[in-house]
This record gives sequence, C-alpha cells and structure tokens, in this order.
Amino acid sequence: KEYISEVEEFSAKTKEEIETFRIKFSGKKGLVNDFFAEFRNIANDQKKEFGQAINALKVAAEDKVRSLKDELESKEEEKGTYGDLTRPSEPITLGSRHPISLVKNQIIDIFSRIGFNVSEGPEIEDDWHNFTALNLPEYHPARDMQDTFFIQTDPDILLRTHTSSVQVRYMEENKPPIRTISPGRVYRNEAISARSHCFFHQVEGLYIDKDVSFADLKQTLQYFTTEMFGKSKIRLRPSYFPFTEPSAEVDVYWGLETETDYKMTKGTGWLEIMGCGMVDPNVLKNCNIDPEEYSGFAFGMGIDRIALLLYGISDIRMLSENDVRFLEQFKSAL
Ligand code: PHE
Repeated sequence: KEYISEVEEFSAKTKEEIETFRIKFSGKKGLVNDFFAEFRNIANDQKKEFGQAINALKVAAEDKVRSLKDELESKEEEKGTYGDLTRPSEPITLGSRHPISLVKNQIIDIFSRIGFNVSEGPEIEDDWHNFTALNLPEYHPARDMQDTFFIQTDPDILLRTHTSSVQVRYMEENKPPIRTISPGRVYRNEAISARSHCFFHQVEGLYIDKDVSFADLKQTLQYFTTEMFGKSKIRLRPSYFPFTEPSAEVDVYWGLETETDYKMTKGTGWLEIMGCGMVDPNVLKNCNIDPEEYSGFAFGMGIDRIALLLYGISDIRMLSENDVRFLEQFKSAL
C-alpha cells in the first residue's frame, strides 16, 4: 500500500527519470516481480489480499509511466523539440494523363458548353446497332468501308467499328430533342503501322430536333474547330456515308494562320479531321423517330489522329505501348 501511494505521488520531468521509475517498479528485477516471487511464501489465508495488492501496484505503476510519457510528449510537441515541422516532406510522385484522355476531355468540354451530354455503349455490339439500323443492311457494299472483327461463333456479334452504334442506342431510348456525343474505343481489322491501328478512339456527335439544317451542322463544326485548334478555317467536301445524306468530310486548315497554343510539327495544308452529314431518314425510322417531324445531323472524328497532330507524335503505336518515358511527357498537360 505504501508503494502504491509512492507510485501515485511520483512525478518526473525527463525521460530518464521516467525510465528509472519504470525499472524500479515494472522492470525485470523490479518491485512488482519481487512481490510476485514472494507470493508463494505467503500464508494461504493472506494470498488473496496480497495478490490483489500486487496487481493494483502493477497496474498503477504502468498507468503512471504511460501518463507521464504522454505528458512529456505533448510538452515537447509544444516546444517544437519534435523536429522541424516546416521541413519539406518526401516528394509525391504524380501520374500523368494519357494524351487520348487529354484530347477526349477537351472535346467533351467543348461540346458540353453548347448543351451536348455524353453517352456510352458496349464495345461488343450486335449487327443491328453497328450496321443494319444505320442503313447498312446485310450485303450492303459499304460494310466493306469498315473492316470488321466478328466473334467467330456468331456472325451477329462483333467489335463495334464506330460509336455510331451508341447513337442508335441513344435514339432508341430517348425522345428528341437529342444532343449527345459518344466517345469510346472502336475496332477495325486493319494492318498495324505507324499511321493506323486495329483499335482507336472516336467521338461521334448527334443532334436531333425540329428544323435542324445543314447550316446548324456547319456552324457547330466551326465553333468546335475554333475552340479546339484556335482561330481556324474549315472546309466541307462532299462525301458518302450510308447513315447520312448529304454527307461531307471536314478539313481544317493547318497553317500559319491557325492560332493554336500547340507546337505543330506537321507542315501546312488541309487536314481531314472528321466525317459528318444530315441523319438519313431511314436511320431515324429505324430508331422510332418520325423523319417528317424531326431532322438532325451527326458527325464523327478519331481522337488518336488528333492527338498525334496536336502533340507532334509520329507513331500511333506509342499511344498503346504504355512506355513511361512517353507518358511522362504529358505531366504538364493536366
Ligand atoms: N461513323 C463514321 C466513321 O466511323 C463517321 C461519321 C459519323 C460520319 C457520323 C458521318 C456521320 O467513319
């Protein structure tokens, strides 16, 4: 008992004092252990009382050490003896965004400012959504425009060749007015080279409402290219797609007049960046939209090619090699 009051009254100012105290009571050769050793010499009728007393002493001594240490630590913290808290910490390694994501996010940003939302769909598609609904029935020669990967056991299932399939799904599920862009990965059975790959990325856009005209399409594209590339000239060349009529190909003039903050490594001239057109009435019908009431336009572009252009990348394969030396170059482009 007298030891317990000694324990309770003990106080210490330094680590060393606390340690001496700890050894005296709770150390291997400390008082608590001494008492435990003496336990067997105690008369049976006193064992219970004696046992309780040493336990109380043991707990009290341990509690004391703990609380003294805590007290000392918080004092040290206040005094700043805890080390220099203003010292710089370990460097944090930051990742970088992939150039495909950078360009994709920029395109999404530009179109969301004029009311387009983002829609996505499956990469493994059925024939209807990738071809038939888009005015490309079986045996239509234009199916050859996009060399397709089929799933061997089922000719109805394929890897989508464009994200126009998402637009079909969107029209089936939503009523006009529709303003949506569909970014995503697409697949074509093409030989892999510096200029083309068997998969790449697209953003396709769709706008359907009453009285949508070709002038709306052209103005939308001009807005987009200006936002994307800086002050820029575009031209539309007549073209053919089964799902649009009329159809056009869009070229951007890549030259000294193009005020862009990117370093161009290519020369000057007209560069094709996308396909577009007025949605064919047959496509609207296939998606349960009345072509007498509604009209619309669609466009589609490849993200990879734009990324190559903007960042001066010479080989499309670099985009999917995951070489850290390549990827790290986009750190500042967050
Ligand atoms: N789907 C076409 C392609 O992948 C692009 C396109 C979309 C053209 C919409 C016209 C209208 O080549």
